[in-house]
Amino acid sequence: MAHGKRSALIVGASRGLGLGLVQALMARGWDVTATARGPAPGLDGLEPAPRIERVDIDDDAGVARLGRTLSGERFDVVFIVAGVATDAQVPVPQVGRASALKVYETNAISPIRAAEVLVPCVAPGGLVVLMSSILGSVGANESGGMESYRASKAALNTLARSFEARHRDAPFGVVLMHPGWVRTDMGGPEAEIDVGTSAAGIAEVLEARLGHKGCVYLDHRGETLPW
Ligand SMILES: NC(=O)c1ccc[n+]([C@@H]2O[C@H](COP(=O)([O-])OP(=O)(O)OC[C@H]3O[C@@H](n4cnc5c(N)ncnc54)[C@H](OP(=O)(O)O)[C@@H]3O)[C@@H](O)[C@H]2O)c1
Repeated sequence: MAHGKRSALIVGASRGLGLGLVQALMARGWDVTATARGPAPGLDGLEPAPRIERVDIDDDAGVARLGRTLSGERFDVVFIVAGVATDAQVPVPQVGRASALKVYETNAISPIRAAEVLVPCVAPGGLVVLMSSILGSVGANESGGMESYRASKAALNTLARSFEARHRDAPFGVVLMHPGWVRTDMGGPEAEIDVGTSAAGIAEVLEARLGHKGCVYLDHRGETLPW
């Protein structure tokens, strides 16, 4: 099917997977708008440079400002990548309440609230994509560990299904994406794949998914994951 130049808004692109996705999509000819909440030397150094906006997804006023800045624009993909894994190794009985709640806020509440604000910017046939994790699968959790992080991504998955149900009549689909275990600040040096491999896979999966509605939970190879 013939298509014009595709466009994406990548929220949380200062480093890691967000930055890698900006590079992977630009390399495939997409127009990319990237956001960072603070200094982002990796983004600033890209050549050609993407358009860069500022937003902290935990700041409702800032997200609303981004919505106003982008009003009237349409993106084929609006991708909320930002996430944290603070105290992920500390079991829930020991983790500080404030820390666990902040992880829930940033990984589950804020992405959905940002997606809601940005819905008017999603092009017909486009996608709202939320960065989840296989660790958000309740069914696949046989080993435990990473407790508050897992729970935050499970909550994101559930909230994304409610988001999709709320917008079922709208002409876009929802994707929950597991990027693989990736060598980033969060994934660590022992992770299985590099950012480029994950980002290229995700880009391919998203291109194949454009034009499809519903809410799916996929990994970077396009495999469907168990809820
Ligand atoms: N790496 C993996 O193996 C893996 C596996 C599964 C899922 N994921 C998910 O993939 C996403 C990206 O992870 P990563 O590995 O690239 O992690 P990372 O290297 O730690 O990068 C995290 C990114 O999120 C941004 N961020 C955090 N809180 C934010 C907020 N409140 N507002 C705006 N931006 C915020 C950070 O911005 P600053 O630079 O300003 O801190 C940074 O750009 C996360 O959602 C993570 O849970 C990663």
